[in-house]
Amino acid sequence: MKPSFTIALLPLVLLLPLLGVSGGLRAEEPAVSAGRLVTVERFDSAFVPDRDIYVWLPPGFSEERRYAVLYMHDGDGLWDGAITWNGKEWGVDEVLSGLLAKSAVRETIVVGIPNSGPERAAEYLPQKPFEAMSEAERTELYRFVHRQFGRIYNGPVRSDDYLRFLVDELKPYIDATYPTLPDRDNTFVMGSSMGGLISIYAISEYPGVFGGAGCLSTHWPGGQDGNAFARQMEKYLEQHLPEPDGHRLWFDYGSLEPYYAPYQERVDHIVRNRDYGNDRWITYVEAGADHSEDAWRARLHHPLTFLLAPRPGAPEAVARVASPDGLNVFELIIDPLGVPRYRVRRGDEVVVKEARLGLRFKAQPELGKGFRLASAEPSSRDDTWEQPWGERRLVRDHHNELLLNFEDAAARRFALRVRAFDDGIGFRYEVPEQPGYERVDIVDELTEFALPENSTAWWIPGRRYNRYEHLYETTGLEDIVLAHTPMTVRTPTGTHLSIHEAALTDYAAFVLDQRRDRVFQTNLTPWSDGVRVRTATPFKTPWRTIQLADDAIGLLNSSLILNLNEPNALGDVSWVEPGKYVGIWWAMHIRKRTWESGPIHGATTAETMRYMDFAAENGFDGVLVEGWNLGWDGDWVQNGDLFRFAEPYPDFDIRAVTTYGREKGVRLIGHHETSGNVTNYANQMNAAFDLYESVGVRQVKTGYVAEGGDIKRVDADGLVHHEWHDGQFTVGEYLRSVTEAAQRKISINTHEPIKDTGLRRTYPNWLSREGARGQEFNAWGVPPNPPEHTAILPYTRLLAGPMDFTPGIFDLTPFGMDSPHRVQTTLAKQLALYVTIFSPVQMAADLPENYAERMDAFQFIKDVPADWEESIALAGEVGDYVVFARQERGGADWYLGAVTDEERRELDLPLDFLDDGRAYTAQIYRDGYHADWRTNPYALEIEERAVRRGDRLQLRLGPGGGAAVRFRAEGGE
Ligand code: NOJ
Ligand code: CA
Repeated sequence: MKPSFTIALLPLVLLLPLLGVSGGLRAEEPAVSAGRLVTVERFDSAFVPDRDIYVWLPPGFSEERRYAVLYMHDGDGLWDGAITWNGKEWGVDEVLSGLLAKSAVRETIVVGIPNSGPERAAEYLPQKPFEAMSEAERTELYRFVHRQFGRIYNGPVRSDDYLRFLVDELKPYIDATYPTLPDRDNTFVMGSSMGGLISIYAISEYPGVFGGAGCLSTHWPGGQDGNAFARQMEKYLEQHLPEPDGHRLWFDYGSLEPYYAPYQERVDHIVRNRDYGNDRWITYVEAGADHSEDAWRARLHHPLTFLLAPRPGAPEAVARVASPDGLNVFELIIDPLGVPRYRVRRGDEVVVKEARLGLRFKAQPELGKGFRLASAEPSSRDDTWEQPWGERRLVRDHHNELLLNFEDAAARRFALRVRAFDDGIGFRYEVPEQPGYERVDIVDELTEFALPENSTAWWIPGRRYNRYEHLYETTGLEDIVLAHTPMTVRTPTGTHLSIHEAALTDYAAFVLDQRRDRVFQTNLTPWSDGVRVRTATPFKTPWRTIQLADDAIGLLNSSLILNLNEPNALGDVSWVEPGKYVGIWWAMHIRKRTWESGPIHGATTAETMRYMDFAAENGFDGVLVEGWNLGWDGDWVQNGDLFRFAEPYPDFDIRAVTTYGREKGVRLIGHHETSGNVTNYANQMNAAFDLYESVGVRQVKTGYVAEGGDIKRVDADGLVHHEWHDGQFTVGEYLRSVTEAAQRKISINTHEPIKDTGLRRTYPNWLSREGARGQEFNAWGVPPNPPEHTAILPYTRLLAGPMDFTPGIFDLTPFGMDSPHRVQTTLAKQLALYVTIFSPVQMAADLPENYAERMDAFQFIKDVPADWEESIALAGEVGDYVVFARQERGGADWYLGAVTDEERRELDLPLDFLDDGRAYTAQIYRDGYHADWRTNPYALEIEERAVRRGDRLQLRLGPGGGAAVRFRAEGGE
């Protein structure tokens, strides 16, 4: 025996509240508390009895807009409980206007269709399943008499007619009379109980007309003999349920209507088998809800939000700001749950889809969700400022700004400052001083970047042992877990973007954390205790940046990161000296010399003087000396505690070498390797810089060789903690070394650094840094840098700022051609790197004796400057090749560098960058005809040619090859 007695009882209980409806015999008009209700009197139908129709127009209704339409059954009970038979109403006007005010649903008109009283059941019972019942079953249904309301079925079931009335008469009238969106995707149907039945029937019969059906407390049994009808209904749905694509189904019931659960489960099974995913179908059970308008009203926001969700991809923005050229647009959205989100478009393309904003704290409520936009203050700027040194002298800062002030019900406040430039978007949080937020521990930043499908990304992993010194990955976005920034992305349309940050001070760096498919959160690097940032209001976060360009080289010509940094804070910085240097360095990496003391100690007085001679002879400004101070003996990577920064080894006479250098016009370049023990360094910093200052050192290379997460911090109690290179603590320590140095007119070149975020603008003595795999990996890296590495760097790491890569290795195979440890470039490519990798301090990294053998090629390194008037990326694709032209600062000459990956490449370059009317001699250093990094790396051709603007230059790059050109201006130096 299958049927349960509860199911048999069902109709008696459930039909009761629905039968007392009036069928149009109203005494009064319903009143609505929001929007406007229009009554269409006695709508004339050829299919069903005439009746009044209600049309609800939302607040602010305008003929200029276009509205979705929701058709609702039992249309008398929707608006005004004061005049309904049972004193209850759905509250459609209240609920929907509330959702509209929050932009939680699309703008919608509701058409309420009253039932026809006595014929209600006959109009709402799905006709096809009814007709599939046996004669006896149908007769049974017709005989059904309710104790209170009498016969349920007055007349034959005619729901097909009811639907024809709806689709062929009413809908055309509504679409002709009101500014509707008449398509399927904007046409919905909804009702409860038998109104739920007719709604699922409507979408099944007219899948091209209705895009969504809301079936609340669906009365699946249909009549007295519930099982017979329900089984036919199930069969019907198995065959006629529309395709999920373009359709949404909402079902629900209350826990106080337990009869529905078994039926709903069977229907759910059918729906699931038709591959309706969660985005297309919801069956929802409301605890404690009974079968009444009160219950439907209480949950109406759920089906409305689900069915009328703002159209995908296009929720309404509440504020926007566009770049001066109008192409890049930042839009602010408050989503249905009150979460602020933003979207970025470039032209027609959405490059960042709706992505979350917000900050979370350890002890205070989040800033973000539940906040409203209180005000928006626009402003603009168009300035040009000058760099003391750089890839270009003059930088134009041209942007439009919008300051978005958020506030919540408790008067908590924060702001988002957004700047839209022609080369991208930047935004930062600004949190003002306010009660309860005096001291804050940030435990999460919720900022997201939701990136386009089918994009390609170039990235290195975050939170790994080797800091930023990893090989670049070229993958789909889906393959990323944690990535450092800058991360570069090419969308399917060819738009290129780079996600990064600007002005990182007293905050943690973030890595991009793929939380959902293609949605990357700013995962702030934590302190060792898990807190991400310790701060106090007022505070500002670094800028979150999205550089945008139509092609790969567009990114290279961007100054966005610099423009988002504060101006020079150091005043007169004429003491900051860009330039070229040599050093006692490569010899250690190829194990010809040692950092530690002993028979082949590199940093001896005599060796330093030899390098100084070489520097002076060839026009270099400085000589870097590593391994000069106590602490290198033993395992220096592990024993950072032992470093003594003001105590030279006995065989290094610092005063003698600096005096010698001064006579020759060459400075000693200092070196502080900390091995990540920053407390040990901080404790000695004053003495260390004082010593260097006293002997005339103007530039110090610092080093933080330690595994990621292994920066040693000793607190005031002597307790040891281990921090990340990119956490807030270390961010502060790097900057401290820079400002301490600045006080002694010393500049800094940081290795194992925090990533660059453009702070060189504010602290121009922060000259350069490493922060990627540099040349050193070609000495001992496993594997060494592959040829594509330097064809990726300009488009990724170098977007952040200068890099001390240390090019210029001439002995490309110090361990022989067969060793895996060799430089995977041609000789010409080593020269080209001086132009393609910008750094205001460039090293000629090889040993003097190796240069002596190729003085012809070395001439280019002697000539090429490190400081530029202008830089222009001419051609390239990420990971394939890049071509830069740069003009010498304070001179008329131009230089060009071109590098390729492992592919041979022919380039045909217009020389449009040259000054008009000037004659130039192009001194070309290019790969020989058969040059190939594997087999023939030294084949180099040097030629001279007269050129002028408008000419073209053809260059042929071998595998792993490159070309370097000096355009010597006639009449110039
Ligand atoms: C790593 C640096 O990148 C490298 O240039 C330096 O020689 C060593 N650390 C030793 O400080
Ligand atoms: Ca390094």
